[in-house]
Amino acid sequence: MRVYEHPILDFTREKKIKFTYNGRELEGFEGETVAAALHANGIRTMRESIHLHRPRGLFCNIGNCSSCLMIVDGKPNVRVCVEKLREGMNVMTQKGKGELK
Ligand code: FES
Repeated sequence: MRVYEHPILDFTREKKIKFTYNGRELEGFEGETVAAALHANGIRTMRESIHLHRPRGLFCNIGNCSSCLMIVDGKPNVRVCVEKLREGMNVMTQKGKGELK
């Protein structure tokens, strides 16, 4: 399933690009959000809840709820539902609060 429209962002789907998710190489389109690219690749879990470690994924899809926090290029707590995909991006599942290393 691919997300074609976003409630607050313009999707100008451009060229196909590669990015990594937990070390796995995936493809997405430049201009779409990281969350949209992950969904298109069948990935629904973006982080684990802090206390019970339950899987969390898209909820609001507009950057309000923090359900989609991931580690992007080493930076934790990135809301991937409003973060645009870039070539070579390194995206990782976030576990816990996401501390800077
Ligand atoms: S899904 Fe709510 S902030 Fe991303």
